[in-house]
Amino acid sequence: MALYSTDAGGALLAHALHSQVCMHADFGGVVPELASRDHIRRLVPLLRQVLANSACSVTDLDAIAYTQGPGLAGALLVGAAFAEALATALGVPTVPVHHLEGHLLSPLLSSKPPRFPFVALLVSGGHSQLMRVTGVGEYELLGETLDDAAGEAFDKTAKLLGLGYPGGPALAALADTGRPGQVKLPRPMLQTPDLDFSFSGLKTAVLVKVRELATISDQQRADIARGFQDAIVEVLVSKSLRAVKVCGLQQLVVAGGVGANRELRRQLDAHALAARIAVFYPELEFCTDNGAMIALAGALRLQAGGAGKLPGAFAVRPRWPLTGA
Ligand SMILES: Nc1ncnc2c1ncn2[C@@H]1O[C@H](COP(=O)(O)OP(=O)(O)O)[C@@H](O)[C@H]1O
Ligand SMILES: [Mg+2]
Repeated sequence: MALYSTDAGGALLAHALHSQVCMHADFGGVVPELASRDHIRRLVPLLRQVLANSACSVTDLDAIAYTQGPGLAGALLVGAAFAEALATALGVPTVPVHHLEGHLLSPLLSSKPPRFPFVALLVSGGHSQLMRVTGVGEYELLGETLDDAAGEAFDKTAKLLGLGYPGGPALAALADTGRPGQVKLPRPMLQTPDLDFSFSGLKTAVLVKVRELATISDQQRADIARGFQDAIVEVLVSKSLRAVKVCGLQQLVVAGGVGANRELRRQLDAHALAARIAVFYPELEFCTDNGAMIALAGALRLQAGGAGKLPGAFAVRPRWPLTGA
């Protein structure tokens, strides 16, 4: 949850996050019913926390933005119902926001933000997309994954290697101790002229490698993690830079949880420098899901001339393509 002020060029006044990772870890993945029940418990304390941290009162709120979709219906309903009820009580408008729009605009929260237009690589647990971002609300899909998302591939591969949930950061840490070039894995769709991705074959290639080995040492496991990370990073870097060139632009924004991956950042920085492309990342805390990016997206929507919505009736959109937002 976050408070964003549009005064003086815009500023994030406060933000707080309650992670449910520990709660889901015992189950090896997100349990939707537990997630939404826990959301109910957390919302009022989080609101109190951000108000206290920003020395604001609830009556200072001019509008309330919330995630309308896409995502788990139960979790979306809890957030939407809370936001609409609070806005009704305060008599202020609401701004239902697309979750991915929050990710796309999240680099604007940093001290050195990009300027429109730019290309965005959106790599999260549920999405892998390249978008042309012309302005607030002006998004063109350039390419996307045909099967698994990049974060999903990280998580599934981590599971194959016996790592816990969430797998992405654990796999990345293991890859740091792996030897480059020891395990060669395919680079799916690297050479295709489009800007699409495919990652499910990479996960299968890891499965085959693991099965080939009767026993697997810690070093071999690390080498496989390294081989996997190198393959996925090479494809993401290559297609992202191609997208920037195809659009005739000079700026690339990386958003979504996989954007926290250090090797991806290293490789992107190196290749972008050579191609004279500037790369922008959200602060690490704004890479994975957070309230600040939703507050920002709502504020920018209002600033761009949107009046917001009358509080009260609402619907959530568990499936919702961004280009239809
Ligand atoms: N350092 C990292 N390296 C690779 N993947 C990561 C890293 N940190 C987080 N992730 C992945 O990012 C995803 C979560 O990102 P997030 O944007 O919250 O996704 P979603 O909104 O789709 O749930 C997970 O799949 C997680 O494994
Ligand atoms: Mg997300």
